[in-house]
Amino acid sequence: VRRAIDNLVGRADVELAMRRAIDLARSTHPHPNPRVGAVILGPDGSVRASGNHSRPGSHHAEVAALAIAHEPGDTMVVTLEPCDHAGRTPPCTEAIIRAGISRVVIGVEDPDPRVRGRGVSRLREAGIDVVIGVLADEVVACDPGYHFQRASGRARITLKLASTVDGQVAAADGTSRWITDEPARRDAHRLRSEHDGILVGSGTVITDDPMLTDRRPDREGPQPRPIVVAGRRPIPPSAAILAREPIVYADDEGVDLAEMARDLPEHGILSVLVEGGPSIAHSLLHAGLVDELVWYFGPIVGAGVGVPAVSGVFATMAEAIPLAIESVATVGSSIRVVATPADRRLASSTGVT
Ligand SMILES: NC(=O)c1ccc[n+]([C@@H]2O[C@H](COP(=O)([O-])OP(=O)(O)OC[C@H]3O[C@@H](n4cnc5c(N)ncnc54)[C@H](OP(=O)(O)O)[C@@H]3O)[C@@H](O)[C@H]2O)c1
Repeated sequence: VRRAIDNLVGRADVELAMRRAIDLARSTHPHPNPRVGAVILGPDGSVRASGNHSRPGSHHAEVAALAIAHEPGDTMVVTLEPCDHAGRTPPCTEAIIRAGISRVVIGVEDPDPRVRGRGVSRLREAGIDVVIGVLADEVVACDPGYHFQRASGRARITLKLASTVDGQVAAADGTSRWITDEPARRDAHRLRSEHDGILVGSGTVITDDPMLTDRRPDREGPQPRPIVVAGRRPIPPSAAILAREPIVYADDEGVDLAEMARDLPEHGILSVLVEGGPSIAHSLLHAGLVDELVWYFGPIVGAGVGVPAVSGVFATMAEAIPLAIESVATVGSSIRVVATPADRRLASSTGVT
C-alpha cells in the first residue's frame, strides 16, 4: 500500500481525503446499505468534490461526489469498494469509468458477497489504478454493524449495562434511577444514536416503561428502532414503547436469540444496543451473541444484594466469560469500560463469527 500511495498525488493528501470520507460516512443512516463517503481530488491533491450515501435509496457516495464536480484524470478516495451491480441505483463502477477517473483509492474491500472484489476487478479492467487498504481499521470502525453483518449474516450486538460499582443494576425494590450521573447517561444516548435498534426484555418494559429514544437536544437522524423480547408475560397495552412500533419477538417457550440476530437485518437492523435487564444479558452472554460490552459504573455502591447486572447462578469459575478490555474512561463521575468477550475478539475485529 505504501509504495502504491507514494506514487499518487501525495500520501498525506490521500490520507486526509480518506479521513474526510470517513467523517462523511459516519453521519449517515443508510442501513441495511453501508455507510460510505467519497472525496474527489484534483491533480494537485486539492479537494474537488465530496459526497456520501445518506439513506437507503439515495445516490451512492461516489455518484453524489461525481455529480458535484470532476475532471478526467482525477483521483477518487472512497471508504468502501465501489459496487458493480445494479440495485436501486446503477453500478458506481460505470459512473467512475465514464467520468474518466484515473485512480481510485479504497479504504476496504466490500464484504458483501455481491460486490467482494468485483468492483476492484471492473475498475482495473478499465485501466484505472486501484489502491486498497488505506485507513482500513478506521473505515470498519465507522460502520461495524455493516462489516460484521455482511461477513457473519447476523446483526452485531452491543450489550450496555449501567451498574453500581458492585455490579447491581437496581435495588431489591426495583428502583434504579439514577445509578449513573448525567454525563454518563448522555454518553449512553450517544451510543443509542450509533445503533439501528435498541433491545430490551419484556421485564424492563414492565418495570421501567422506557421510551428508548436518544434524547440529546442536538441529536440528528432517525431514532433507533425499539426491539422487545418477550416470553410468558405480555407487553402491557399501556407500555410507552408501543407508540414507537417496536419489533417484537415473542415466544412463551423462549425466543431463539441467534435466529433473532439473523432476522434483524431483514428489518434493516445491522447493529443492536441491548439495554435490557439481567435476564436478557444472561441469555445473550451465554449464547455467545455479545460482540461488545459497554459497562458504565456509577459512583455508588449498593452495599448489599439488589438486582445483579446479569441474572442466573455463577456456579464455578470455569463458567466465567473472559473479557478483553478495549478501553476504560471516566465520563462525568462514572466509569465506562468497553470490552469484548475474549472468544469473540478475533470475530469482532475481522467481522467474522
Ligand atoms: N441499570 C441498567 O442498565 C438496567 C437496564 C435495564 C433494566 N434494568 C433493571 O432490570 C430489572 C428488570 O430485569 P429483567 O431481567 O426482568 O429484565 P429483562 O431482561 O429486560 O427482561 C426479562 C424478560 O424478558 C423475557 N425474555 C428474556 N429472554 C427471553 C427469551 N430468550 N425468550 C423469551 N423471552 C425472554 C422474559 O419475559 P417473560 O417473563 O415474559 O418470560 C424475561 O422475564 C428492572 O429492575 C430494571 O430496572 C436495569
